[in-house]
Amino acid sequence: MIEWDEAARQFHLRNDRVSYLVRVHDNGAPGGLYFGPALAAGQSYRHLPPRDFRGFSNRVGEPIPLEMPTPGSGDFRMPALVVEQADGSSVLELEYREHTIVGGKPAIPGLPATYAESDGEAQTLELLLADERSGLEVRLAYTIFRDLPAIARSVRIQNGGRAAVRLTTAMSASLDLPDADWDLLQLSGAWARECQVRTRRLVAGRQSVGSVRGASSHHHNPFVVLRRPATTEEHGEAIGVSLVYSGNFLAEVEVDPFGTSRLRIGINPEGFAWTLEPGNEFATPEAVLVHSDRGLGDLSDAYHQLYRDRLARGTWRDRPRPVLINNWEGTYFDFTEDRLVAIAEVARDLGIELFVLDDGWFGARDDDTTSLGDWFVDRRKLPNGIDGVARRIAALGLQFGLWIEPEMVSAKSRLFEAHPDWAIGLPDRPRTESRQQLVLDMSRPEVVDHLFDVLSAVLGSAPISYVKWDMNRNITEPWSAALPADRQGELFHRYILGVYELYGRLTEAFPDILFESCAGGGGRFDPGMLAFAPQAWTSDNTDAVERLSIQWGTSLAYPLSSMSAHVSAVPNHQVGRITPLASRAAVAFFGVFGYELDATLLSTEERNEVADQVAFYKRHRDVLQRGRFVRLRGPFDGDGNETAWMAVSPDKRRAVVGWYQVLNRPAPGPGRLRLRGLDPSLRYRVSAWPERDDGLARANVGERGGDELMAAGLFLGMDRAEAARQGDFQARLFVLAAGGAES
Ligand code: DGJ
Repeated sequence: MIEWDEAARQFHLRNDRVSYLVRVHDNGAPGGLYFGPALAAGQSYRHLPPRDFRGFSNRVGEPIPLEMPTPGSGDFRMPALVVEQADGSSVLELEYREHTIVGGKPAIPGLPATYAESDGEAQTLELLLADERSGLEVRLAYTIFRDLPAIARSVRIQNGGRAAVRLTTAMSASLDLPDADWDLLQLSGAWARECQVRTRRLVAGRQSVGSVRGASSHHHNPFVVLRRPATTEEHGEAIGVSLVYSGNFLAEVEVDPFGTSRLRIGINPEGFAWTLEPGNEFATPEAVLVHSDRGLGDLSDAYHQLYRDRLARGTWRDRPRPVLINNWEGTYFDFTEDRLVAIAEVARDLGIELFVLDDGWFGARDDDTTSLGDWFVDRRKLPNGIDGVARRIAALGLQFGLWIEPEMVSAKSRLFEAHPDWAIGLPDRPRTESRQQLVLDMSRPEVVDHLFDVLSAVLGSAPISYVKWDMNRNITEPWSAALPADRQGELFHRYILGVYELYGRLTEAFPDILFESCAGGGGRFDPGMLAFAPQAWTSDNTDAVERLSIQWGTSLAYPLSSMSAHVSAVPNHQVGRITPLASRAAVAFFGVFGYELDATLLSTEERNEVADQVAFYKRHRDVLQRGRFVRLRGPFDGDGNETAWMAVSPDKRRAVVGWYQVLNRPAPGPGRLRLRGLDPSLRYRVSAWPERDDGLARANVGERGGDELMAAGLFLGMDRAEAARQGDFQARLFVLAAGGAES
């Protein structure tokens, strides 16, 4: 997969789908020549423009492709690496020294990353660059995956000199592209409206998304796509860049005056400065680059496969995920053991498999003003402890799960009284309040050790099979009592390293527990978290209409198996909207399904409906959690009134199609929905859910060819009278089963 052409001084990373070409310029700097569809092996591509590069001396400012650009030597575009040396300068002459090519993919110390399970699955090139004068050594790692159009990049920087240096920018990847005819697609939003697809045309200058909040954030996801303006879900060129990191990040593109573009992604340089003592090394997080010439759908397929199968780890990576019920919106802080057991009992009767006890079980937490950090049970609510309630729930035949928020401390807590300096913030300045809680200084090993001990005690004290790890505020007044003045710029990154350390230790100590990450919903829905917790709470917004765009956007980068999606009560707690129960389920089915309500309040009719939903989901769980997700019709297209998507089993013999209409429209036309990803030669039995005797069912139910379903499509028309009765917020699912497959 990786060729080194000594004569051409060229590296060619190649598989059936893509080529990534790097040449060593005459001055020793590596420059990217090409990232795109696979090119023939055994060829020199050194002739690809621009001309070879001997040094900037008389060509200052020209757009020479560089894999690790540094400032001050004639390349005025965004640097990937800025190292302040003892004399105060940041000028470096990084020259190629040597390289290694190994099978598989070495781990990155202290950081989550994608991996290979065998040497044949991937190959890794490591380029060693050195700056003679400062002694700085930079290792650029590139992994190509055999079966995916994906390249993972990361960087290690070692101080081989005699004096300490300061890293102020250390990006994970920099990619030079020969033109700027791209749209920049980003996933942006806020709490309860995460991952909205936003697209803008590249223009001269810099354009970026990022976070300085201490978490990847609700506001921008660490994932962007450069797509050709004509690229669609099915066709056209796109390059995705995703950062396996959960802290402050920057994804930025610069278009220079010559019309080339440079994309960089990595730790946000804002607020970052890292002192590197002689002999020490700094490792950047990993960036995953995907190239597709087959549209956004294909780009997502690559990320889904990689993140589901070779980023997520542990016992739960491949296991079917349980259907859960979470008590948060059902009870908030107001519960007793008996109330929880009553909810669980109904849930068990409905076929639900896991009961999750959310916030409020510890300390004296009757609201969100107190007790974070005091991870011992509140006996007023749970007189028999976690063990007592967990055993009663286990006796019902349900698994038991627990909510925690390890990284936080309430000012009103025993932990804060004992260790006020463990909270991030300046002692002589007011701390910004956010949800009445403070952030623990996870950069301190003693904090991580303490949390490991107390949480291990809780998790070991009862039959707990699931943990929801929440994180509900961002970092303000960033200052650590444990770091010297000249190292405060390390806090944000050290914080995340501490979070990873704790996650790593807890997931290792409790390998059978399914971890779900959460940050007030999708405030830290990123690949870094997925390496520890294979699923994440996609959003606190459970409204069926809002969830269409949130789940659509999230699916650009993340697989169905990572997206938790629940049915909650109406009027919805975030938007007050009343949607049909069936529509709420039809949206939440596409992901890791569950409920977020007080099941004892369901009417008999609703209970029957929920039981039917749970049975439907279990029947199709493998397709809905691990199938290929195909986006058909988008909430960000046109007036956004319709959404349609489908999940297809890997053998293409089964599929579930979801079609959603926000507002009802009178006198509909004979609409059709063309499907994708089926086998054109197979005959599928089509059934509709929920079962109704209406025009939609009559037109579609029966046997249909895969060719017909893809070329002509499902029929979505209705007669006027029927349409008039529909009402808003309708959803319909179609199940496709070939031959003996279950329908
Ligand atoms: C925010 C989460 O996203 C919710 O699901 C819930 O767990 C609350 N926190 C509890 O405080």
